Amino acid sequence: MNDRDTLALQWDRNSASWSDSMQQGHDQVNEQFGIPFFLDQLGPVSGLEVLDAGCGEGRSSRHIAAKGARVTGVDLSPEMVAHAVRKEIEKPLGIGYAVSSCDDLGEYSAERFDMVTSFMALMDTPNLASVLKEFSRVLKIGGKLMIAVRHPCFFTPGFSVYKNGRDERAGLTISNYFIRKPYVERWKFPQQQGLFTVTRYPYTMMDYAEAILSSSLRFTSLTEPRPTEEMCLRLPNLRFWRLHAALYLFIQAEKV
Ligand SMILES: C[S@@+](CC[C@H](N)C(=O)[O-])C[C@H]1O[C@@H](n2cnc3c(N)ncnc32)[C@H](O)[C@@H]1O
Repeated sequence: MNDRDTLALQWDRNSASWSDSMQQGHDQVNEQFGIPFFLDQLGPVSGLEVLDAGCGEGRSSRHIAAKGARVTGVDLSPEMVAHAVRKEIEKPLGIGYAVSSCDDLGEYSAERFDMVTSFMALMDTPNLASVLKEFSRVLKIGGKLMIAVRHPCFFTPGFSVYKNGRDERAGLTISNYFIRKPYVERWKFPQQQGLFTVTRYPYTMMDYAEAILSSSLRFTSLTEPRPTEEMCLRLPNLRFWRLHAALYLFIQAEKV
């Protein structure tokens, strides 16, 4: 089995529980923090043709469609896409979904989209350089690319959270930043039964930069969103990410 097939199978197996967690609102960190920042930075999208790459069960696609974009969501897991399609049928937003891997978007013609988005997917993907080449190919000249990943400087293969004497999360220890070897992570949302299994592909800042620069794309912005005080009052878990480290790296680029 190749890397793509393994990842698709993992997300197929995660899909029922992931879809249920999205429906129950278990992913409050992204809902209250990452997604509002992401949508804000996208700017106006009304009427734009947007490809949402690594759409999972469609959460990110639905948020973007709710801003008025015409969204196509792609994911390599057939089961995740089946959940996305079911939710679209239940509550239509005009989103089209397809099973496709971001490093082979052959069913879409060159310069088909005004914008490509990817929310929290590319740190889970093999072949980053090929993925960026495909994003560039399907983007119109001047079209915008907007990517959110777990921040590569803090979510390294050897990261761990350490606790102080009062058993509070007090910081991070980081190691193995330069080790590119994929590793399997098992994790869950606090309220969830069972664990997700995901292979992570550790990329460095330079890997993202090189993949962009070798793909006819021009950087327009790098952002490390920080939770606001108000967000931390609403969701106290976020204070850790206000005090100690950046949870996300947002990368914006433009097709040249
Ligand atoms: C954590 S989920 C996030 C999904 C969604 N963007 C959201 O906001 O909920 C990551 C998804 O990325 C998908 N993915 C990872 N690498 C991919 C690739 N090369 N092509 C297509 N999908 C990919 C996985 O199958 C998984 O469904």
